[in-house]
Amino acid sequence: MARPEEPLLARVDSDDSREREAEEEDALLTGERNSTSPARTWKFWREIGLFAWALIATTALILLAVVLQKQSDERPGGGRPGGGDTDTDPPSSSGKRNLIMMVSDGMGPTSLSLTRSFKQFQYELPFSDQLVIDQYMIGQSRTRSSNSLVTDSAAGATAFSCGKKSYNGAISVLPDHTPCGTVLEAAKKAGYMTGLVVTTRITDATPACFAAHVNMRSEEDRIAEQLMGDYPLGRVVDLILGGGRCHFLPNTTEGSCRGDSKDIIKMGKKEGFHYVNDRAGFDKLKLGSAVSLPLLGLFADTDIPYEIDRRYESDIYPSLDEMAKTALHALSAATKDSDKGFFLMIEGSRIDHAGHANDPAAQVHEVLAYDDAFASVLEFLEKDSADGIMVSTSDHETGGLATARQLHPTYPDYLWYPGVLANVSTSAERLAQEYFKFRSENPNGDKAGWVKKAIIEELGIHDAKAAEIVEIIDHPETSPYTFADMVSRRSQTGWSTHGHSAADVNIYSSSAKDAAALVGNHENTEIGEFLRNYLDVDVDAITNELKEKGTQFDTLNAAGEKVSWMGRVADDGERLDGQDHLDHYHGDFKKHKRCNICG
Ligand SMILES: *[C@@H]1O[C@H](CO)[C@@H](O)[C@H](O)[C@H]1NC(C)=O
Ligand SMILES: *[C@@H]1O[C@H](CO)[C@@H](O)[C@H](O)[C@H]1NC(C)=O
Ligand SMILES: [Zn+2]
Repeated sequence: MARPEEPLLARVDSDDSREREAEEEDALLTGERNSTSPARTWKFWREIGLFAWALIATTALILLAVVLQKQSDERPGGGRPGGGDTDTDPPSSSGKRNLIMMVSDGMGPTSLSLTRSFKQFQYELPFSDQLVIDQYMIGQSRTRSSNSLVTDSAAGATAFSCGKKSYNGAISVLPDHTPCGTVLEAAKKAGYMTGLVVTTRITDATPACFAAHVNMRSEEDRIAEQLMGDYPLGRVVDLILGGGRCHFLPNTTEGSCRGDSKDIIKMGKKEGFHYVNDRAGFDKLKLGSAVSLPLLGLFADTDIPYEIDRRYESDIYPSLDEMAKTALHALSAATKDSDKGFFLMIEGSRIDHAGHANDPAAQVHEVLAYDDAFASVLEFLEKDSADGIMVSTSDHETGGLATARQLHPTYPDYLWYPGVLANVSTSAERLAQEYFKFRSENPNGDKAGWVKKAIIEELGIHDAKAAEIVEIIDHPETSPYTFADMVSRRSQTGWSTHGHSAADVNIYSSSAKDAAALVGNHENTEIGEFLRNYLDVDVDAITNELKEKGTQFDTLNAAGEKVSWMGRVADDGERLDGQDHLDHYHGDFKKHKRCNICG
């Protein structure tokens, strides 16, 4: 066995062929890009075509992620650490209270290390400097779903909303495809006001799980209808801020992504919703002091851009923090004279997307934006006279992020370089969108010139290799990954997947005392149990009501067959989150040949 200090493979930088060989070795060693993902992407993007790229980029990144699945409906034991307080103990037995649930989608513990070091570098802060959120950590959540050790956001949020384990892809339905009542629905029924604030589509899994029920998360058109009140409970959400307008617009309208001609905005207005759809409309809300509820604010067709890009477009899109403040003040004002407070869910949705994209620069800005919103929630709770609590956690980790990366076969240096991230001004997703635009508008344009300039100006990288430029020119469909990878390698940021991982995630709270039941290591369903107990609401009664009234909302499909109001149940063997089913290891490691386009 070679001693660590002896290079396993000598490298001569000026020697092209040796370098190529070394790079091959590096790729193998660092486990980069097995063949499954890029092969799929290639086909996928081929079909859709370059022009549609901007719209589907995020979806593609999510669909792409391939994770192993283990079929098991058995619920793991919900043990708490020995001696821990197992009672959920609201601050006082009665009285008005507010609950703010914050979800940092896809943020694992390493996202915090990454962001903290980045912030210290960027602002020349001492290494003792912490993020705001760091100072409120109280525990950890285990995240597995009912059918996999690696959850998705749908099963993850169902654990929070219903307090129950379900399968990946389930939007507040159980493994037997019956609906489960949510804390938001029960809160509304009990007289609380309710709100959802996100940076992704409001029809995406996390927000959907609080106020909709469908068997497959992909049924976002149906989710939009349910959010507007077209389901057994009627309207339950008082305030909605985020993206995802395309699922609300009829397919005859520009910017629509609906499969039918229903006008969901119109439907919402009939239910009383005040609708705002741009920055000017948002500004008129005066950060919450001029809001009429119910409010529907949709500021992007799909996702609100990553914070790293949005900060230059704040005249178009509000930030997570601005939306959070608006929601807090509006709901607080609306419950001023009530003996009940409000339930608000705020999601930093796109931390997850940056993880799927393996884009560390985009991720640190997403986490910092979440930290800003987190600080605003704390400030609100401090000033507000009503009792209140904030609980913040993630549904899962995304990317298998590591703040270290072995780039060479020699014994690794103990280093990672946040300065590389500080040089990046554009997300890999946006840069690829710009690149696609350039290619489609200039079919005979100077691609190499464009790419070289963009890498310097937007990624702040001054040592691009010829092979990297060639890769981007020859394989534009994987350029979002290549751009992100160039940043990841230079900063020595490691990723083990474009999908999710089974890592435990942190739990934070404004009050460790009031959230004593969540101190320590917990199953994610215990977070859901805490939410309902804190608000003292009857979620089981909602479940019964959904079951009783639901049948009246079943519909007929084009073929005249009855379809549940919760939509189609996936066919046997059809995975509910768009991935191939894989219940256990089938010895398929050897089938994953290295992809010859991935260099
Ligand atoms: C729009 O939806 C209707 C069904 O509501 C469908 O018949 C029609 O083909 C769709 N049009 C387009 C352009 O997709
Ligand atoms: C960042 O960009 C500057 C030029 O703008 C360059 O001199 C420097 O080397 C870059 N830093 C890193 C860590 O790449
Ligand atoms: Zn995800």
